[in-house]
Amino acid sequence: MMPFSLRTLRRVLNVVVVVLIVKVTVGIVLGYRNYFPANFNSDFLRGREDYYFGAYSGAFYAHIVAGPVVLMLGLLLISTRFRTRFPRWHRKLGRVQGMTVLLLIVPSGLWMAAYASSGPVAGVSLALLAILTGTTTLLGWKAAIRRQFAEHRRWMTRTFLLLCSAVVLRLFGGLGSVLAVQAEWYDPVATWISWGLPLLGFEISLWRTKPGRRPVLIPSENELTAVSATS
Ligand code: HEM
Repeated sequence: MMPFSLRTLRRVLNVVVVVLIVKVTVGIVLGYRNYFPANFNSDFLRGREDYYFGAYSGAFYAHIVAGPVVLMLGLLLISTRFRTRFPRWHRKLGRVQGMTVLLLIVPSGLWMAAYASSGPVAGVSLALLAILTGTTTLLGWKAAIRRQFAEHRRWMTRTFLLLCSAVVLRLFGGLGSVLAVQAEWYDPVATWISWGLPLLGFEISLWRTKPGRRPVLIPSENELTAVSATS
């Protein structure tokens, strides 16, 4: 059982993260005034006239419509309270989420990665992000069908963290502007960190709470015997 203060801290942190995700997503959607119709003087579309019309614009519009939807659905689906209160809705919305990620976000992300504005290093990161997001979604779906729910939760948490890279990347963008970062490596590196760091943090937290793993701060019986023998 978690101590009261830790539990409260965790709840406060959860609320802060949810507010941040919603705030950044609203900011992203407000930026769509530059995309309907396409404004080639806007930050993102500048210099894209040559390849924009055709497949790119198809991928782009599918992506920017589906992106906020999967982020908001992800927030709902990851909530334990929502899942336990409305299990049927969790299943229905989960299917919508899975299909939207696999049929819209992954292919559009892969296509757009080939034209990444920060260059090929960022492009490889975004392509890998698309492949990983598709893979974790498929594995999470498979686990749910097999009723392996702990496994399902782990894969879907990974999917959600990968989707949140869109938020983390914008936070890095904001930080770069505030600090007036000019370095060319900043954006490509931020692209890798935006999904690599949250995913690594999650894997470490899973490993630390693995059953059978001895908590670091509790000495083993051998260590205790050694200490009492020397004192
Ligand atoms: C995890 C899967 C995702 C992948 C692989 C991905 C990939 C990409 C790529 C390659 C670009 C073009 C980047 C460039 O040319 O520099 C892009 C742009 C964009 N993405 Fe994603 N993305 C993902 C998730 C999301 C999510 C969840 C959202 C939700 C808001 C989102 C919203 C956008 C928007 C709005 C743009 C256009 C640029 C802008 O207005 O900031 N993406 N994405």
